[in-house]
Amino acid sequence: MTVVSAKHALEAAVEAARWAPSVHNTQPWTFAMSEQELALRADTDRKLRVGDPSGRELLISCGAALFTMRTAMRCAGFEPVVRTLPDPDRPSLLATLRPGAEVRPDESTRALADEFERRRTHRAGFADVPVPDRLIERLVLAAMDEGAKLTPVRSPEAVRVIAALTQAAQGVQAQDLRFSLEVIRWARAPDSTRTDGVPAQGYPRRPSRTAPDFPQRDYAWQHDWGSEADERAATAVGVVALLTTRGDGRQEWIDAGQALQHVLLEASAYGVSAAFHTQVLEMDLLREFLRLELCSGEYPQMIMRLGITFDDKSSMRRPLSEILE
Ligand SMILES: Cc1cc2nc3c(=O)[nH]c(=O)nc-3n(C[C@H](O)[C@H](O)[C@H](O)COP(=O)(O)O)c2cc1C
Repeated sequence: MTVVSAKHALEAAVEAARWAPSVHNTQPWTFAMSEQELALRADTDRKLRVGDPSGRELLISCGAALFTMRTAMRCAGFEPVVRTLPDPDRPSLLATLRPGAEVRPDESTRALADEFERRRTHRAGFADVPVPDRLIERLVLAAMDEGAKLTPVRSPEAVRVIAALTQAAQGVQAQDLRFSLEVIRWARAPDSTRTDGVPAQGYPRRPSRTAPDFPQRDYAWQHDWGSEADERAATAVGVVALLTTRGDGRQEWIDAGQALQHVLLEASAYGVSAAFHTQVLEMDLLREFLRLELCSGEYPQMIMRLGITFDDKSSMRRPLSEILE
């Protein structure tokens, strides 16, 4: 192994990790690079103090970045050697990663890597085109590979219950100024030059309503913001899926993030997008209800809808100079 190519693999891993999804596009991470190793750190200044006091969503976001780094490194020709939460005295150090044995990346690794930048969050209904069952089976396996469980919700009653919980959570959060202010803090105006937060082009101005309705976060908040794309014709719910873990600690949150990104990249490679509805998971009583009634006692880490969309969304990321130490 030459030092130059190992270094190239580390650089490729950070560059790719920037594009991981994160709650409200907070990008709550920094990276430190040495000759042989990359460290992923949580940037707790970017934690949502109201919606995410425990840092669960922050760690899921960083877990998604970690899966991206692993895949990018494999794609660059090295098996990643990863240690998660390596130092109990440094809780912000989430993982270290170094290039191990040289590998020839297989086709599926390259297919995932092709989606790093292309994958986008969807915030409306989906086109009336079914998601193939075989793809859902692949996504279930992808989550399992990372130590989490993806369960497609097949019963219409259960889908209605999850939609009702989402409506309740969104309704309560919309009434609570602390929640609203936090969402507004991360929502960007159309002419903003910031490279974090949710851009006004990241959701439609006229979103479709699905039946049952899964309300979106109110990023526009009293403004006439949103993309011009007319999504009113796209009203399919898609496949509702729950991502769960057996435990509910920091390691499981990182695992859930890795599973999430594996699922999202795999789906994206097949032209399938995801919409997220995580308001419920930010409210302890509703999350516990969901856990006991619909997750067989496992801990829900993500609620998503998977489906087909023909619309392009935009997003943005901070430059390497801001996140690389
Ligand atoms: C833990 C987590 C929770 C999220 N919750 C929501 C949500 O409730 N609603 C939403 O529209 N997007 C949600 N997202 C998606 C982010 O807003 C999105 O990843 C970010 O804005 C970057 O945009 P991109 O995914 O299109 O690259 C969530 C993402 C993560 C990782």
